[in-house]
Amino acid sequence: MAKPRFAGAFVLDRRSHQSPITKISEVVHGKAALDEGRVRPPAYVTIQSWSLMKTCLIAFSIFAALTGTVHADAIAARQAAMKRISQQLRVLSPFAKGDLDYDAAAVMSALQTLDAEVKAYDVEVLFPAGSETGNTKVSQKIWTDRPGFQAAVDKFSGDVASAVAANPHDVAALTPLVAAIGSNCGSCHGAWRN
Ligand code: HEC
Repeated sequence: MAKPRFAGAFVLDRRSHQSPITKISEVVHGKAALDEGRVRPPAYVTIQSWSLMKTCLIAFSIFAALTGTVHADAIAARQAAMKRISQQLRVLSPFAKGDLDYDAAAVMSALQTLDAEVKAYDVEVLFPAGSETGNTKVSQKIWTDRPGFQAAVDKFSGDVASAVAANPHDVAALTPLVAAIGSNCGSCHGAWRN
């Protein structure tokens, strides 16, 4: 029995490729004709394209799964960054209100942690194209007005850097700095979060 020999890694043996087209070819030409390779050219073409199609489908599924994971990772990373930012505000707030005895070292440490966090908040990495949907509460505007969103991040970053530079040593110095930092939370969420 003459087995057709096909070039290419995707093509094996037509009988292991029970594609609908192969089955139709069997009906039209008879199974024996197919097995003997007498109707090789059309079978060759249809079987090869079927194999390629399957390969493309598998490749596409893997690609879709990978990019989906990348988006989920970016969403999780930006939400985790916000939680860490929030955490530093929770440390600073009682000092700014005078609810806790002023501790300049603890305040500076929180401000510096916040500063590093905001400087590491990379809009391009955290908001890649395609990550506007999923488990996220972002406004679509982040993708249509990237400079506007970057400006909001820069404003936040600038206010945090100013607080670090001010090196506050009492409640009176800290209160307006924390108020300035805190005003960014509401204004950014109002404009860029759903
Ligand atoms: C430059 C814009 C911007 C600033 C400034 C900002 N946020 Fe956010 N924040 C966002 C965006 C955008 C999201 C939504 C992220 C998502 O769901 O993908 C968010 C989400 C959050 C979340 C929810 C995180 C989660 O687990 O889903 C918290 C909490 C939060 N922010 C706290 C704060 C606090 C506190 C401040 C101020 C100290 C602040 N944010 C400043 C843009 C900002």
